[in-house]
Amino acid sequence: MNKLPEPDAAGKKHSAKLCARIRRRIARGGGRISFAQFMEDALYAPELGYYAAGVAKFGADGDFTTAPQLGGVIARCLAVQCAEAFAELELTDGDLLEFGAGSGQLAADLLAAMDALNATPRRYLIVETSAALRERQRETIASRGYEERVRWLEHAPREFCGIVFANELLDAMPAARFEMNARGRACELGVCVDAAGNFAWSRGEELPEELQRRIKLHEEETGAALADGYRGEIGLRAEKWVRDTGARIKRGALLLLDYGYPRREFYHAERRDGTLMCHYRHFAHADPFFYPGLQDISAHIDFTAIRDAAHESGLATAGFASQGAFLLSLGALDVLAESHDNDGDLRGQIARAHEVRTLTMPQGMGELVKVIAFAKNCALNLRGFQLRDRSGRL
Ligand SMILES: C[S@@+](CC[C@H](N)C(=O)[O-])C[C@H]1O[C@@H](n2cnc3c(N)ncnc32)[C@H](O)[C@@H]1O
Repeated sequence: MNKLPEPDAAGKKHSAKLCARIRRRIARGGGRISFAQFMEDALYAPELGYYAAGVAKFGADGDFTTAPQLGGVIARCLAVQCAEAFAELELTDGDLLEFGAGSGQLAADLLAAMDALNATPRRYLIVETSAALRERQRETIASRGYEERVRWLEHAPREFCGIVFANELLDAMPAARFEMNARGRACELGVCVDAAGNFAWSRGEELPEELQRRIKLHEEETGAALADGYRGEIGLRAEKWVRDTGARIKRGALLLLDYGYPRREFYHAERRDGTLMCHYRHFAHADPFFYPGLQDISAHIDFTAIRDAAHESGLATAGFASQGAFLLSLGALDVLAESHDNDGDLRGQIARAHEVRTLTMPQGMGELVKVIAFAKNCALNLRGFQLRDRSGRL
């Protein structure tokens, strides 16, 4: 923790305001709140939360880099997949709906890539909770001349036909935390204020039976009991989002790219402190209490739970793979080869090679980021899962 850079005075003031708000909520809650509530406030409290306030966030000047910030390769590959899926769905003019569009980079790149494939979506829709980011998306998209083609919605349409997708959305949704006790039961892990006035962890009541069963089942399947003090996350909000969004899809696909694992790896007995990941000025660490409001907080995804939630809303699994396998199936290397063929710009070629490596290699995002796809009222044979489909591991 010592090596994290110090925020400037304005940043500290901003964070102090948010901390005061969270402390008041803790006092109202009788001395503790759930971690999901803490994460909700830290990321989304109006005007002060990390995503609600107008700080930089993505890319070199921000705190972390997502795949679309690296360049256009992910958009090129997704365009191939979406164009094929629209053709299979016989929705040649279907809608694309992106959730949590961040800086708007992926939307702009994807529109360009789909135009190049003559597969322009009828409408490009975005649902984005952060007003500051909606503004940033508008600017990015307008700077590419696509402002007439994109519409921002409050919610997914009630009956949607087309493709819904999101990159790194679910891991930014508030997650519940638990800690195992000596009786082998999972207890809610909340947040309190310690004697020095700092945020601290506070073990609360045992979780409801339904969630105990989920963990017991996992322990039985893997033959590894979670030890006293083991901490983990349960992405209840992400699961609810999948159920709600799935229910709104009338015919089409849901495609999600995110950090995470199938459950057997997610609650790995050796990962004793869960999967929380925080980013501040490109330093990754696991302390969500570091200057709330100034850093990103994320929790990896239990893709087995996401699969179960999707099935509850009538979606069927259409594939599950690492991001690396998914993008390679969709021709990430062809994009690289093209950049060698088409331009003599050595710097550009090196940057593209670096981008493809980061997106596909296990040391980069290639293995830790997974892609899961679902279909409703149609059978989809998605090219992204041609090289490898690991649905059986969920
Ligand atoms: C980690 S960022 C990823 C941004 C972008 N997809 C990318 O890859 O660069 C998460 C994004 O999801 C948005 N978000 C979080 N919860 C949301 C929700 N329930 N509905 C829509 N957007 C949401 C955040 O405001 C932010 O834009």
